[in-house]
Formats: sequence, structure tokens, C-alpha cells
Amino acid sequence: MELRVERDSEVDNWKEVTLIYNSALKQISTKLEILNDEFQHVHRYNPIEHIKSRIKTAESIVKKLKRHGYESTIENMVKYVNDIAGIRVICSFTSDIYEIAAMISNQRDIRVISVKDYIVKPKESGYKSYHMLVTVPVYLSDRIVDTKVEIQIRTVAMDFWASLEHKIHYKFEGNAPEHIKDELVECAKIVSELDDRMLSLNRQVQNGRLERVGADVPR
Ligand code: GTP
Ligand code: MG
Repeated sequence: MELRVERDSEVDNWKEVTLIYNSALKQISTKLEILNDEFQHVHRYNPIEHIKSRIKTAESIVKKLKRHGYESTIENMVKYVNDIAGIRVICSFTSDIYEIAAMISNQRDIRVISVKDYIVKPKESGYKSYHMLVTVPVYLSDRIVDTKVEIQIRTVAMDFWASLEHKIHYKFEGNAPEHIKDELVECAKIVSELDDRMLSLNRQVQNGRLERVGADVPR
């Protein structure tokens, strides 16, 4: 029988922690690349524009622990900081987001811990994105470690908005003037409208193309 050790009990140093989280990121990235390739093969279309991944710096992990009132121990990091390993998947259309999320959830070795759909229910800031917290097993020489990865899936337009909002948030240290916040909410609405129109346009083009070749119309 396989030895399956629970996460937080056996991780004893930062180097090992980063090695494990890096491996988890590699696995999720590879899974996404495979899905993208397969999608290209079957549907002649790439749902993923690009993928970015990062390991949270020790400094911001410590900050987050402090913010939540936890001592800075490796055990607390692993237990309470869910976004040490983060991956961002940028798609063209909103429909791609849900397809990718479903394909990821359906993988046998991935366990979905939680989902936050900020597309259906955007944040007060206007932020839209689909977040999944999953675990993926990392196979080490002597054990398997189920490792948490935060996956953020969003469209190019949502990502454009989020990166500007993030810059503004930092510039004003979280206290941007009201008129700028209002303008960002307004821009978020325009982003949503743009996403809806681009999706509709793409569907029309896809349907037209398939009608011409006499095939069934998917999506
Ligand atoms: P964090 O403590 O920030 O990780 O938040 P959380 O644990 O409550 O999770 P949540 O799903 O709300 O946010 C996780 C991540 O989503 C953040 O670290 C950001 O990368 C992104 N995010 C959430 N809200 C916003 C927002 O209003 N603007 C931008 N630009 N990004 C956001
Ligand atoms: Mg975070």
C-alpha cells in the first residue's frame, strides 16, 4: 500500500517546502498544457492564452500569517496560507474559464478544496476571476504530499483590469480616492460587456464556419 502522509506534520524546512510547492506548480502547469494541446487537436482551438505561476515570497507569507494572527512557523504557513503556490490561467473567452475549471476538477488526482466564482459574483472592487483551491499529490522518494495550489482563471480582459487595479491599489496603499475606485468599477462593467460581446462574436464566427463545412455546431 502507498504511504500517504498528511501535509503539515512532516515538512521540516523552507527549502523542502519550496521544492514541494514548485513540483505542485509544475504538475498543474503540465496538466493545463496537455488539456490545451488536446483541445487544439480536437477543436482546432486553444482555450488558454497563457499561464503564469509563482511561489509566494517568504516575506509575503510571513506578512499574511501576521495579518491573520499566526506565528511564523513552517507548519502554520502550510496550514493557513493557501496561496503559497499560485497559478494564473488566462483565456480568451468566459466560456473557456468554465471548461478549463471542469477539466481540472475531473482529474482523478486533483482534489478541489474550494471554489470562488468572482465572475458570477464580482468583488466590490469590480474584480472578476474564477478561483479554485486544489491539492495535487507530489511524489517524493519516500512519501506522497498532497499540496495546495491556488488556480486563478480569467479572461485577457479581466486580467488587464486586475493588473491595473492591483497597481493602483499598491500606489495608494489600499486607499485609492473614491473617484478612482468608482472609475475602476465602471471599467469592470465595460470589461464584462466586452467579454460578453467577444464571446457572442466568436460563437457567430464558429457557427458560420461549421455551417459551411456542414458539421454540428458545438459550444
Ligand atoms: P488574499 O488574502 O488576498 O489571498 O485573499 P483571500 O484569501 O480572501 O482570497 P481571494 O480569493 O479573495 O483573493 C485571492 C487573490 O485574488 C488575491 O491574492 C489577488 O491575487 C486576487 N484578488 C482578489 N481580489 C482582488 C481585487 O480586488 N483586485 C485584484 N487586482 N486582485 C484581487
Ligand atoms: Mg493571495
